[in-house]
Amino acid sequence: MKKTVLVSGGAGFIGSHVTVELLESGYEVVVADNFSNCDTTCFEGVKKITGRDDLPLVRMDFCDPAAVDRLFGEYDIDAVIHFAAFKAVGESVEKPVMYYKNNLESFLNVLEAAENHGGCNVLFSSSATVYGEPDQVPVTEQSPRKPATSPYGNTKQMCEDILRDAVKASKGLLKGILLRYFNPIGAHPSALIGELPRGVPNNLVPFITQTAIGRRECLSIFGNDYPTPDGTCLRDYIDIVDLAKAHVCAVSRMLDGKMKADCEVFNIGTGRPVSVLELVNAFEKVNKVKLNYRFAPRRAGDVTAIWADPSLANREMGWKAERSVEDTLAAAWAWEKHLAGK
Ligand code: WQD
Repeated sequence: MKKTVLVSGGAGFIGSHVTVELLESGYEVVVADNFSNCDTTCFEGVKKITGRDDLPLVRMDFCDPAAVDRLFGEYDIDAVIHFAAFKAVGESVEKPVMYYKNNLESFLNVLEAAENHGGCNVLFSSSATVYGEPDQVPVTEQSPRKPATSPYGNTKQMCEDILRDAVKASKGLLKGILLRYFNPIGAHPSALIGELPRGVPNNLVPFITQTAIGRRECLSIFGNDYPTPDGTCLRDYIDIVDLAKAHVCAVSRMLDGKMKADCEVFNIGTGRPVSVLELVNAFEKVNKVKLNYRFAPRRAGDVTAIWADPSLANREMGWKAERSVEDTLAAAWAWEKHLAGK
């Protein structure tokens, strides 16, 4: 019998790519989403890529405890991957109550329903943001978590703690894996799914692709006076399909009884620092387009440099990021052109 994975927020950027990889690895998937921050484009794309026209979709809000409980009653769920959350750092500073309410309530409802239905394997999508401005790079899973600089970051730290405590108290009913993502970018090679930001993008790569296609006039590179080789910030940009594959490895680790502790944490990154300017140059080169950009003042809250030590995930999960930055940026561009109908 196929094992079933519930993917909350499964119609979004990361959720849709993870759904494709799970289906292609032989898992059954139930996608659940309230479409508060996406439309059905990616869900339809997933169905096309996988040929699964019958893929179950539940339109629901994870902040509704009765709906979450019903979902766990209706399907025999072996593992849940929880993506459903708000994710804009700046917006979280303006609307902290909305962020805490949405991101914490939805996760608590998942855990409560999982417990009420006999337990579950829970994978939580965490973020490198929990490391704040690191004292040393690359960061390992043992690197200290720093006080969060935004309510968004704080919800990631709080959900990590909630899962740890819930697993510990559950007497084996719950198992947990926390995946700390670095900077997910790119799109599926089919160009049928990708990132679809609403309004002006906050993140670098969607801003680059929208500038290249002519939807934005000019990319601002925030700060060129950082203490880095070229003065711009360093990040660990991880291909979205590589990132999605890490979820398949984590799910099978849980379901195949390979965990070494009831709650584990893994960095999901490449281990390769890339500066903003290097990324911009690579985009221009691989896609043969000229990007209109200028240097602008630093953006508040940005850390100078952070990248992963991914060796634990490499060793323990047998997972490794494989795609080059160039291939990833070519996929991001193909997706933007697909959206523009070009
Ligand atoms: C990358 C670099 C910017 C836009 C955030 C969240 C994190 C995560 C991913 C969220 C930085 C520079 C950006 C622009 C620029 N999770 N930049 N011009 O800030 O590393 O991480 O997104 O869902 O939790 O904090 O990613 O893509 O915003 O920025 O120069 O128009 O690009 O200053 O150095 P970040 P980012």
